[in-house]
Amino acid sequence: MSGDKKVLFSGMQSTGSLTLGNYLGALKNWVSLSEEYECFYSVVDMHSITVRQDPAELRKRARNLLTLYIAAGLDPEKNCIYYQSHVSGHAELAWILNCFTYMGELNRMTQFKDKAAKHADNINAGLYTYPVLMAADILLYQADVVPVGKDQLQHLEITRDIAQRFNGIYGDVFTIPEPYVGKVGAKIMSLQNPEKKMSKSDENPNASIYLTDDPDTVIRKCRRAVTDSEGAIAYREEQPGIRNLIDIYCACTGKTQEETVKEFEGRGYGEFKLAVGEAVVDVLRPLQERFAELSKDKAYIDGVIKNNAEKAGYCAMKTLRKVQKKIGFPERIR
Ligand code: TYM
Repeated sequence: MSGDKKVLFSGMQSTGSLTLGNYLGALKNWVSLSEEYECFYSVVDMHSITVRQDPAELRKRARNLLTLYIAAGLDPEKNCIYYQSHVSGHAELAWILNCFTYMGELNRMTQFKDKAAKHADNINAGLYTYPVLMAADILLYQADVVPVGKDQLQHLEITRDIAQRFNGIYGDVFTIPEPYVGKVGAKIMSLQNPEKKMSKSDENPNASIYLTDDPDTVIRKCRRAVTDSEGAIAYREEQPGIRNLIDIYCACTGKTQEETVKEFEGRGYGEFKLAVGEAVVDVLRPLQERFAELSKDKAYIDGVIKNNAEKAGYCAMKTLRKVQKKIGFPERIR
């Protein structure tokens, strides 16, 4: 936004405990892309309140998530790591974009349909217009690229549609963002139901590996993963459980599917599940250690929060002012 590098934006909700899916599908890629782009990584706490949250818990989770971004390897000197709620431009742009989004488009969003079914007692307007806030997040920073897991692609599509519609009326105001989906780990499935994605909000704790799980828990969850009775370690449609474990193993070790299938040829599921568990433990251990260290340094984390909110706020304001001018809001008198 300010330099020669292209801009990257992404975010995660500070809801529930982060899963291995969040890490392999998103956070891991964020780290690998962070040198190449000018990056904005937001803790999207405003998105979290579309479902009821305990205030103290929400605050704690938001801080833990921000700390985790750094623990995963994002340098807050080079990447703008901040809370969405600290930059009022997100809400302001979202309102404007709401007026350029059709209800028919929002009605098609599968995440809305899923969440509305899950929270039938609280189908609020925020849940419905959630994708518009997400579009505002991305467009506010003129992002070129948005690394996400596969489940967010529909939201990226509507973001592009809104931006193109707006540009069609007012000229080239917004950069049209491209999604970035990693080759492996873009959709990690539940360990208990491999037809469903691994999710923070799954009621069955054995379905997800949390980034805070200790080694014994990780190994136990992998051992219990639902598989099949085929008895062969192969990457096939008919074996979604084994396929998911292969994906996890590849994403954690950097090996390819072919290498993995070859490595475990003729070996039993028990042995493979143990190897998957160990590979996950090797990925989580350094992350957890660094997280524990960083969490103790309150002053450092506070400094990151303060400095980066200012930087994000400055960049956001530039786009917001441009948009306000384009649509005809009166100029400020100084
Ligand atoms: P959220 O918080 O649900 O998930 C954060 C990121 O993790 C990815 N992810 C997965 N990847 C692979 N396998 C899985 N099982 C899995 N589960 C989650 C998600 O695709 C996502 O990249 N709406 C977004 C947050 C958001 C956002 C944004 C993202 C708000 N504004 C702007 C990008 C740009 C969400 O709820 O992600």
